[in-house]
Amino acid sequence: MTDRECVELLQWAAPRLRLRWEGFRRVRGQVCKRIGRRVKALGLEGGAAYRARLEAEPSEWAVLDALCRVTISRFYRDHRVFDALRQELLPSLLREARARGEAVLRVWSAGCASGEEPYTVAILFRLGLSPDFPEVRLELIATEADDDLLTRARRGCYPPGTLRELPPEWAARAFTRTGEGEQCLAPELREGLTFRCEDLRAEMPAGPFHVVLCRNVAFTYFAPPLQREVLARLVERLVPGGLLVIGAHESLPESAIPLERAAGPLPIFRKR
Ligand SMILES: C[S@@+](CC[C@H](N)C(=O)[O-])C[C@H]1O[C@@H](n2cnc3c(N)ncnc32)[C@H](O)[C@@H]1O
Repeated sequence: MTDRECVELLQWAAPRLRLRWEGFRRVRGQVCKRIGRRVKALGLEGGAAYRARLEAEPSEWAVLDALCRVTISRFYRDHRVFDALRQELLPSLLREARARGEAVLRVWSAGCASGEEPYTVAILFRLGLSPDFPEVRLELIATEADDDLLTRARRGCYPPGTLRELPPEWAARAFTRTGEGEQCLAPELREGLTFRCEDLRAEMPAGPFHVVLCRNVAFTYFAPPLQREVLARLVERLVPGGLLVIGAHESLPESAIPLERAAGPLPIFRKR
């Protein structure tokens, strides 16, 4: 299948999956390669034939949906965001929680890929914050639509390249290198984390949460009406003063939801 055929297919199919084609524009290589392989495996000639198959067989839509997931992630991705959380925003949330006599920080990572984002929060919490807040424990729910990624997340072992943005002293304390060259996360850093297979378009954990990370998923790939719907449901699950973190290249859809920027231009918002 040619790039042009793939683009036309995505432009036609994305709205039917409640997605937006523009989200895929820059990263379509990965997705088009997968779709091309699928078209070949079905013995079809190209984009038009695959479109006809989708119209004839509704079950193929779920296959295409899974092929459209962009799964790139890494530890401490967008380091400025995690620096701001560690240095300023989380200590302030934790001090407030302490003043209320609370002993749990509740976090949700939505679209967690192979665990890089939730484990980053766990490492940051245990190695960066726990020394000052020993009485508080972390409860983190990580959700993801792709079960294979969750299997990898539960295993907790990674190629070294995914750790390159993590502060080196944390990488050294949090991971052990195996004979095969993988870096495996220390078991104590997995405590308090739960991974769940959930499609963000259909279901969400109940909350309430102090922090919700929804980065490089909804506000890149979802169609605008769905973005507004998801934003409202994410914010419903935040405590007042809780933080919503989105991707560094994302922006929130226009809405009347009461959020304010929590750290200057960084993509972190506070529920008023
Ligand atoms: C580009 S990765 C981002 C991972 C991480 N949040 C980050 O920013 O590094 C997007 C992840 O969201 C998942 N995803 C895509 N659509 C989803 C949906 N509807 N529900 C849940 N997860 C989804 C993908 O499978 C992928 O693992």
